[in-house]
Amino acid sequence: MQFLSEDLDTYIVNHSENEPELLQQLTRETYQKILQPRMLSGHYQGRILSMISKLVNPKCILEVGTYTGYSALCMAEGLQKEGELHTIDINEELQDFQRQYFDKSAYGKQIHQYVGDAIEIIPLINKDFDIVFIDADKENYANYFELIIDKLVPGGIILSDNVLWSGKVLDTKFKKEDTSTPALIEYNKLLKQDSRVETVILPIRDGLTISRKK
Ligand SMILES: C[S@@+](CC[C@H](N)C(=O)[O-])C[C@H]1O[C@@H](n2cnc3c(N)ncnc32)[C@H](O)[C@@H]1O
Repeated sequence: MQFLSEDLDTYIVNHSENEPELLQQLTRETYQKILQPRMLSGHYQGRILSMISKLVNPKCILEVGTYTGYSALCMAEGLQKEGELHTIDINEELQDFQRQYFDKSAYGKQIHQYVGDAIEIIPLINKDFDIVFIDADKENYANYFELIIDKLVPGGIILSDNVLWSGKVLDTKFKKEDTSTPALIEYNKLLKQDSRVETVILPIRDGLTISRKK
């Protein structure tokens, strides 16, 4: 969803950092070969993820929802020299595609892929995270939060994507089959109320929350 006019959106993108060539290639190939290419973070949100990561300069990042690897590569730009990025996706068909792009980047050896349900995999990764990016099935956002909060260093941040869900978080009635909207409404409440974090929602793309562990 566009929260800004198209002209203003274009202006903002044109006056922000350019998209690296490798990420342009990754985007083109995702659109040619992979289902649901709109899931990829894209130029502007990607530059925001890169900027946040460079400001934090993390030793260790966790990503829940790799898809074709776009956001992982953006966040990897901020890693410390010996830093690591761990990224999980349930879709095993994406693994070779991701690896091909990770290896073309400067961060191939620092990026560790996991295939499977993040609910099962997160407890197996014994690391302290400086940044966690949650961008997978919306129904499990609150579960991911509970699984990672104790693995997050004090001052570490959780980035949660799609928290405005095309504005549907304002709805009071949902279709029976829509499990994502009520889950995101509850998740946004949880982040606001949980005393372990301080939270701000940024109206970027579909809504991106930053929660900082106290
Ligand atoms: C929105 S896409 C991620 C986009 C990616 N972060 C980016 O910005 O380029 C969501 C991904 O989450 C994955 N996913 C969904 N449910 C999952 C689960 N339970 N565990 C791990 N990954 C899951 C999907 O396979 C999909 O690739």
